[in-house]
Parts: sequence; structure tokens; C-alpha cells
Amino acid sequence: MDQSDPLRDVRDLFDLPADIIYLDGNSLGPAPKAVFAEIEKTAKTEWANDLIRSWNSADWFKLVEQYGDKLAKILGADTGEVVICDSTSINLYKALYGGLSLRPDRAVIVAETNSFPTDLYITEGVAASRSDVKIRLEKEDEDNIEDLIDEDVAVVLVNHVDYRSGKIRDMPALTKIAHDAGAIIIWDLCHSAGILPVDLNGAKADLAVGCTYKYLNGGPGSPAYIFAAKRHIEAIGQPLSGWWGHANPFAFDVSYQKDRGIRKFLCGTQPILSLRALKSGLEIYEKLDMRAVRTKSMTMTDMFIDLVDNSCGEFGIAIYSPREASKRAGQVALTFEHGYAVAQALIEQGVIGDFRAPNILRYGFSPLYNTYGEVCTAAASLNRIMKDRLWDQERFHKRLTVT
Ligand SMILES: Cc1ncc(COP(=O)(O)O)c(C=O)c1O
Repeated sequence: MDQSDPLRDVRDLFDLPADIIYLDGNSLGPAPKAVFAEIEKTAKTEWANDLIRSWNSADWFKLVEQYGDKLAKILGADTGEVVICDSTSINLYKALYGGLSLRPDRAVIVAETNSFPTDLYITEGVAASRSDVKIRLEKEDEDNIEDLIDEDVAVVLVNHVDYRSGKIRDMPALTKIAHDAGAIIIWDLCHSAGILPVDLNGAKADLAVGCTYKYLNGGPGSPAYIFAAKRHIEAIGQPLSGWWGHANPFAFDVSYQKDRGIRKFLCGTQPILSLRALKSGLEIYEKLDMRAVRTKSMTMTDMFIDLVDNSCGEFGIAIYSPREASKRAGQVALTFEHGYAVAQALIEQGVIGDFRAPNILRYGFSPLYNTYGEVCTAAASLNRIMKDRLWDQERFHKRLTVT
């Protein structure tokens, strides 16, 4: 299967340690080989030599839009609809306020208990700063968010892919339900961009946010992005009215006037070294067919589920992700009472995945650099750890700060 894999050469574009099977690209993607020269050029030529002139000569001021346009192609968005900036959490704050500003006569935000916690924390922060805003939550593990959407709802905030189970929400269907009720919908794409074909405009999505350090391989803490559909950009507001979002930042006016385009979502100066690091990850996608990426992703995750069922089911490991490939994104989540210790034991065997409380092991398979051979070896290592109870050693139970 590896020999006939149409994506087999893409692995060579990444710098991966030889003795590791890396199944955590759903948390932090590996380094593209081209990134080192990019960072060196940015640091040594543009910064050290050209100094402040690089804001113009190296287009530093415009990278946020240039890379936003590259990313737009991966998200099914148009030129001028995506800007790279800040973190997902900060962009969620802007998007929620932006969504509320488009529906001034409404004040309910619908969100999911199962969503990545920062989405809920930011929603709480928005609600705490406005006495009229109320939060309506889909309960844990209930799949009925549509029942919460009515004519009082201003904004629906949903994760396209569940960060623990990897379950995919139906973007066109839920967007339509939100629109039929007159609400704005915000999609958190952290676990879908780069692993699934995403079609924001095909689904008529209003707003979206996401990070670039997972499947897009932008590097640790690489800047995030925000999407706004063209039809909203003129009217929408956002609360972090910093000078980079001003219509004419170098006029140094005393009062704020928002930019008319996607730059209005900017706040202040962006991290140029990190932005440059993101370029190499985005450029890998320019040559990729996302349908081939999705096909390999489904085959790899199906394969891992089969192998775990057959070789680890008897030891109490259960599959937490949807079993139907079309409902699952790039990761396979497993549950086990001592999941943390198993994840640590597997890392010691060279298979890197991660753990999410209370008992979930996550293994992310990237069609760009993982092989079918690695899927088999990872499952065989898991079987060995379970069969010989290798996980049950004191050192594997000691929790590190980042799990
Ligand atoms: C679905 C989702 N949303 C938001 C975030 C948080 O992003 P950030 O820490 O970049 O603000 C994450 C991080 O893993 C995530 O998985």
C-alpha cells in the first residue's frame, strides 16, 4: 500500500526523526524541511541586515493577507476573506463580538459543552462583558444542537471536528439550520483544516477561526487565522480595535476607523518570524489534492481501528471515535482507564500520540507523512504494551504538565 500511495513522496518534505512514529500531528505538526532556510533568511537577511526596511522591502506588513490568501484555498474561501493573526482564542473573541454585531437585536450564543474548552471560556468572557448576552449549551455527548437554535439566537459557535473523538459536524446542514433561524454561525476549524476538504463558501459559512500549528504544520505557537464571508466584511465590527486594523494605520489618526477589508480583524504587530515559518507548511498544500489526502486518511484510520479492535479489545481498550470513516476526521481516539500510562509507555516505544483527560488516547494520522507501515507498527506496539502490562509501571503514571 505504501508503494502505490499517490502521496508517498510528500513525506520527504518533512524533517522527521528516523526512530519515531509520529501520530500527534493533530496537536503539533512536524517541521517542513524548507522552513529552516525560510527562518534563516528572515532572521539573517531581512532582520539582521535589512532591519526596519523589511516592513516594506520584504512585505512584512502584508504577510498576514498574503498567507491568508494561500490558506483560503485550503478552506474553500476566496481571496480577501482570510487573514492570519493572533491565536485561535483571540480570534474567537473577535468572531463572537463580530457575530453579535451583525445581529444587534438578539443576544443568545449557542455553543457545545463538548467543544474545546477555550471556545467555552471565551464565550463566557464575552457574556461576562455584556449584561444582555446569554449562553445556551448543547449538553455533553448530546447530538442535538439544532434543537437549541431559534429566533433568539444571534450566534452559533461550533467545532467542525470534535477535538477528542474526531467526529465531524455536517457544515452545510448546520449552517443552513442556523441561517433559517436568522443566526450567524462560527466554525472552529482547528481539527479539520489541512486534513479534510473544507468548503466554507460552499457551505455559506459566516465566520471561521482556526490554528495553523496542527495539520498545517506552521510550527509551535504559529499564528492563527480568521475567516469572514465577503458579504459580511463591510458591516462587521470587532472589539480589539488596534492600529493594525485601522483603515489607514500610518496616518496615525487620533480616533479609530476600521479597515474596510479583512485587515479589520487585525489588532497589533504580528510575529514575523512565526509568520514566515508558516509559509513552508502552507506551500506544501499547493501541490496536494485534498481528495487524495482524505482517501488516505480514511483508509489509515479504518486500518488502525481494525487492528486495535482485533489485537487490543480483549485488554479493555475501546474505540471512542466514530466507526464510520465518513464521520471521522484524522484521528482515532481510544479509551482506557489507565490511558495516560498507556500513552506514556507507547511514547517510550517510539510511538508519539497524546492523552486528553479523563481517559482518552488520541492518535492522529497525517496522510502527508505517515505510512501504512507505521499504522501497523503502532498497533503492534500497543498490543505489546497491553499484553505484557508494560504500562503498569510507576514512571508512566506520573503526570507531566502538558499531556
Ligand atoms: C478546537 C480548538 N479550538 C481552539 C484551540 C486553542 O487554540 P489557541 O491555544 O491557539 O488559542 C485548540 C487548541 O488545541 C483547539 O483544538
